[in-house]
Amino acid sequence: MVAGNWKMNGNSSLVTEFENAFNEITFDFDVLICPPSPYLNLFKSDSLATGGQDVSEFDSGAHTGDISTSMLKEFGCKYVIVGHSERREDHGESNALVALKAKAAINAGLIPLICVGEPLDVRESDTVEAFISAQLDALKDNLSVAEFEQSVIAYEPIWAIGTGKTATPEQAQEVHQFIRGYFASIDSELAQGLRILYGGSVKPDNAQTLFAQPDVDGGLIGGASLKVDDFVSICQAAN
Ligand code: PGA
Repeated sequence: MVAGNWKMNGNSSLVTEFENAFNEITFDFDVLICPPSPYLNLFKSDSLATGGQDVSEFDSGAHTGDISTSMLKEFGCKYVIVGHSERREDHGESNALVALKAKAAINAGLIPLICVGEPLDVRESDTVEAFISAQLDALKDNLSVAEFEQSVIAYEPIWAIGTGKTATPEQAQEVHQFIRGYFASIDSELAQGLRILYGGSVKPDNAQTLFAQPDVDGGLIGGASLKVDDFVSICQAAN
């Protein structure tokens, strides 16, 4: 899977550029773009799926600014990112809230891309596994094996997001292997089938070595998903 996260970037012309490119080219794995929600309805191409960048844990009601699972579905989304570090930081989203959002998404038939990842001080103090475990524990407390089977995990070290500092393929593999091992202790078949994406400064020139790691099943792409040529190159690397 290769997923693009436009964050609060892009416009309707960029949608058209992506639509035109992906009308010409298809990949036999899942490719999706998560644009800002006002642009979701402009994506029509069958070869490019869409996802929300966040979703409410509630079905409807007095939650100004939030978007529900059914709204995302009505606008054709198959996926939604939950727990992105920018949501956790800018909007104070806790591990427990992220788990509720993932559950709401799954219950509505959306596939959540659940983000986990450590900040720089955690990486430097060598406590990455404990930090990631705490994020995963909150998910485990709320989601069943069957629900995890409908989920994708994205490992995004915060120090590598938008910084140009990519985790080395070895650093990425180490954490991906740890995450797969964590799920293996819940259910071995679940762990084998689970897609674990890497995110954090993935570019055309580093995508192939990252994706070649045994436990890296694709990427969640921020900056490079805003340039159609770069995004297509990353998809080709995944191919
Ligand atoms: P980046 O963002 O590729 O710009 O580092 C990744 C993400 O935040 O999903």
